[in-house]
Amino acid sequence: MARLIIVSNRVPSSSDRQQPAGGLAVALRDALKQGECLWFGWSGRQIDDADKDNRKAGAEQVRNVAYSTIDLTHSEFDGFYQKYSNGILWPLCHYRAGLMSYSRKDQEVYWEVNQLFARELKKQLRPDDIIWVQDYHLFPLGQALRDLGVTNPIGFFLHIPFPPWSLMKSLPDAEHLMRSMQAYTVMGVQTEDDARNMNDGFVQCNIAQKAQVFPIGIDPDSFVQQAEAGEHDFDVQRLQISLRGRPLIIGVDRLDYSKGLPERFHGYEAFLKRFPEHRGKVMYLQITPVSRGNVEEYRLLKRQLDETAGRINGMYGDFDWTPIRYITQPVPRHLLAGFYRLADAALVTPLRDGMNLVAKEYVAAQDEEDPGVLILSHFAGAAPEMEDALLVNPHDADEIADALHKALTMTQSERQARWGRLKPDVWRVTAQTWARDFMTALAGETHA
Ligand code: ADP
Ligand code: F6P
Repeated sequence: MARLIIVSNRVPSSSDRQQPAGGLAVALRDALKQGECLWFGWSGRQIDDADKDNRKAGAEQVRNVAYSTIDLTHSEFDGFYQKYSNGILWPLCHYRAGLMSYSRKDQEVYWEVNQLFARELKKQLRPDDIIWVQDYHLFPLGQALRDLGVTNPIGFFLHIPFPPWSLMKSLPDAEHLMRSMQAYTVMGVQTEDDARNMNDGFVQCNIAQKAQVFPIGIDPDSFVQQAEAGEHDFDVQRLQISLRGRPLIIGVDRLDYSKGLPERFHGYEAFLKRFPEHRGKVMYLQITPVSRGNVEEYRLLKRQLDETAGRINGMYGDFDWTPIRYITQPVPRHLLAGFYRLADAALVTPLRDGMNLVAKEYVAAQDEEDPGVLILSHFAGAAPEMEDALLVNPHDADEIADALHKALTMTQSERQARWGRLKPDVWRVTAQTWARDFMTALAGETHA
């Protein structure tokens, strides 16, 4: 069996492997359970610019996966990761061109770091390796490898949305970027919308490439095990005791403006205002670890959320009741699974999201006798597969409020029926089927 090479910007560190906050790391960890693999990417360390010719390579073997990493200099980290990937491509791909702050310098650093990745990876390649590049940080990596003479099959998967070409072309470098994607043997995206948008871009630029859809999922069986074990966990029981019989609403997201967090808080506020019978009788736990905290937009968002949670708690709270429990730290996955299982409703309200694994994790974690209700944004990639959730437009606070009221007053039989219709898809489209289908397509193209 050929060795699989995964390349991604972020390679989970040993501590992240227990609680990775981010869909890419979670899905790959669940998918990479067999076969020989090498996972290559950034070490998470930044070194002085002056040391760029002495960067250290990291190597660690954990079961079947060899982790291999390189350091980035401060300037590379800033231009490649913070500015171009997260300050330009991320907002653009999430349909927020207005938040993009473009500079040619950052673009140059982005391409240079992709070339650096290509040079370092090439040293470790064997002739029959299959390479699978992950996500927007590394769009041009395939081309950079081809320029070095690499002929191995190279697949690419985009974990985030791809916008309509009319929007994408506001990036000055868009056509160049699209052209570089010809290097890939297989190009994968999450949803039909993403494929339509990307393929339209290829047609408009006269590029012979075609994106195919490979929806991502979770490892539902292992998530169920964690959720069931979580019921007996001391910390899950602590949460349960603190509820004192009150229903729990849960939200779990990286602190990111694509997740619709201010909109969610406003929806919850509208719920407390319009349905006063729930005041003091419900608990909303929002777990939102800080992400990309050095990028300006993320800092502003954190301030806005701190302020909004504080305002809602000040306005509606009582001496024995806090309306929003708001935590900005990651939580270990087994606890998260136990918390989901306790929760009567989950609020997943992104303004735009590649797929959204939290929605699938919440469904997997439910107890079939007494399942909770998923409230899901129309704009999550998962929404077309999950029509039995309560689908909402996150821009409409009143719609979120209505959905919360409906979820908390829904009969047990309706909750069971909805959950029974949601569950099969979470088991049908998993991290394993995603990886298997992608690798089958890559092998098919290679031998065609
Ligand atoms: P994204 O990739 O944009 O972060 P997803 O919903 O697809 O969004 O994936 C997020 C993953 O990160 C999920 O597996 C989720 O459980 C995990 N995660 C999110 N927030 C936390 C948290 N506070 N603690 C631990 N894991 C988290
Ligand atoms: O899943 C989307 C994604 O952007 C991944 O590529 C990334 O690793 C994850 O979210 C978390 O973001 P970051 O690596 O910037 O912390």
